[in-house]
Amino acid sequence: KAIILTGITTTGTPHLGNYVGAIRPAIAASKNQNAKPFYFLADYHSLIKCQEPERVKRSSLEIAATWLALGLDTDNAVFYRQSDVPEILELTWMLTCVTAKGLMNRAHAYKAAVADNEQGGEQDPDKGITMGLFSYPILMAADILMFNANKVPVGRDQVQHIEMARDIAGRFNHIYGEYFALPEAVLDENGATLSGLDGRKMSKSYNNTIPLFEPENKLKKLINKIKTNSLEPGEPKETEGCTLFSIYQSFATADEVAQIRQRYAEGIGWGEMKRILFEHINGQIAPARERYDALMEKPDHIEEQLQEGAKKARAISSPFIRELRKAVGINRIT
Ligand code: TYM
Repeated sequence: KAIILTGITTTGTPHLGNYVGAIRPAIAASKNQNAKPFYFLADYHSLIKCQEPERVKRSSLEIAATWLALGLDTDNAVFYRQSDVPEILELTWMLTCVTAKGLMNRAHAYKAAVADNEQGGEQDPDKGITMGLFSYPILMAADILMFNANKVPVGRDQVQHIEMARDIAGRFNHIYGEYFALPEAVLDENGATLSGLDGRKMSKSYNNTIPLFEPENKLKKLINKIKTNSLEPGEPKETEGCTLFSIYQSFATADEVAQIRQRYAEGIGWGEMKRILFEHINGQIAPARERYDALMEKPDHIEEQLQEGAKKARAISSPFIRELRKAVGINRIT
């Protein structure tokens, strides 16, 4: 049976990139009765990037409401908050003790932070980098290995972390015995990396996101802000490298994409293309947006769902961590 698991860090409002990279494929998978899905709010991860408690809290509510509004089947899926499952932190330490520091030195997020310091002329390449940022792939490995997930739907930016989780699992298994399945990333071919307003990867850190459930008029305004070149209507246009086109592709069927390709060749105007993109995305998310707005008014209901999910998660993590403690030799003496 496939065990599918994915999480979203609770540092902001879910955006179209989170949707196409992780949430949409995960929801589709949650409907498959042969799969066991685990979806969670990665709230301990949020502390790595965000020290605003109110923001973390608000984001947890928004992300939970998003999953539910999009129709997550909580009977089949285990839907929980990471911090409600303390065994994950316990496992993080066990894994930390088998993880080579050299492996963490190679993590993209850490390397990018060091490169920023060096470019900025800092004496100390590690300036401002916390141990949380440095060892964060181990926390992520614990998220995955706690439930022995073998399929992890993520955007392309997370693939390295899944590979690291495999390495760490292999290392633990080698020392203590075969306790963990080796996880694999599952990439949605349509949405592996969605572009943001400025053409770079859509990301909270670049401030170029389009929030998934933005009210209709704001969604329209944001789509109108997507960067284009200055070609006039009537002039033939390239689809390659065009942000509007690449976003459209993530929301359209192959036939629809072929039609738009044709319109580019015929010189579609940017205003018209923006209108088409807006109509298209809006059509797909409008019903879920209505459910989202209603759910945001019912935080108690959302909390209840998370509590139930935590119960189901701990029914698995609690006996498993006992087994793992035994494996490493820190159980009772008698
Ligand atoms: P996070 O919160 O940055 O992003 C959540 C998910 O959204 C995907 N994503 C994108 N996909 C396509 N295009 C984009 N522009 C885009 N931006 C974000 C991400 O790849 C991710 O799948 N560390 C993780 C959360 C996490 C996790 C886990 C994931 C914690 N533990 C265990 C899987 C398994 C993160 O920060 O994702």
